[in-house]
Amino acid sequence: MRHVGEHRTTSRRTRGRPLAHGLLALALLPFAANLVLADTAMDELEAEAMTISGQLAEQLTDALQEAMQRGGPPEAISVCRDLAPQLKAELSRSTGWRVTRVGTRVRNPLLGRPDAWEQTVLSDFQQQLDEGRAMTELRHAERVAEPDGEVFRFMRGIGTQDACLACHGERQDRHADTFKVLGELYPHDQAVDYRAGDLRGAFSISRALE
Ligand code: HEC
Repeated sequence: MRHVGEHRTTSRRTRGRPLAHGLLALALLPFAANLVLADTAMDELEAEAMTISGQLAEQLTDALQEAMQRGGPPEAISVCRDLAPQLKAELSRSTGWRVTRVGTRVRNPLLGRPDAWEQTVLSDFQQQLDEGRAMTELRHAERVAEPDGEVFRFMRGIGTQDACLACHGERQDRHADTFKVLGELYPHDQAVDYRAGDLRGAFSISRALE
């Protein structure tokens, strides 16, 4: 089983006479050192990406819980609508990373739609879930060549919890009032009919590599 995340596999079986083997190893030394360095840098970037996406996840969960307790779903809509983009912008400014959140199905097509790379990773996350992987283990890091240069990109899965269903679950349940408001705000809303445990989307964050 191979996932997109396993792009850093570098081991290779080598064959040949001992002398040729030794010479080859010598010739490859600088290259190998580079790979080790690159791997360390990747690990550091991934750790940083985990911290930043974790911060956003925590801030959003706290704000959502607080708003739900204070005023129920109508109050909490503004957390997702106004506060989420604000928190993403603040984190982007303070960390230098580009911090976003995308959905497998999207409510706000301007902010939440995955690009081609993100779609591929989301499909892979879904496949991993189908194969029994835990939601919390879904993450992927990769160096991606983009028109302006190389970029480190990282994604981490977001699961649907019970608390999300008031606004992302079935429309015709007890949250009809909420969905009426949502329908007015987002006429092309597709981020509904999720069930608890479904993949809702991912935090997607990136930064340019020198
Ligand atoms: C009170 C209503 C409400 C609740 C509860 C809620 N959301 Fe949302 N969610 C929204 C709204 C509104 C948007 C669109 C925000 C925007 O305009 O960018 C949204 C957007 C999103 C997006 C961005 C992709 C898209 O569809 O535009 C993700 C991911 C997301 N929500 C995940 C969750 C998760 C996970 C939970 C539960 C922990 C949750 N939401 C709970 C209302 C809600």
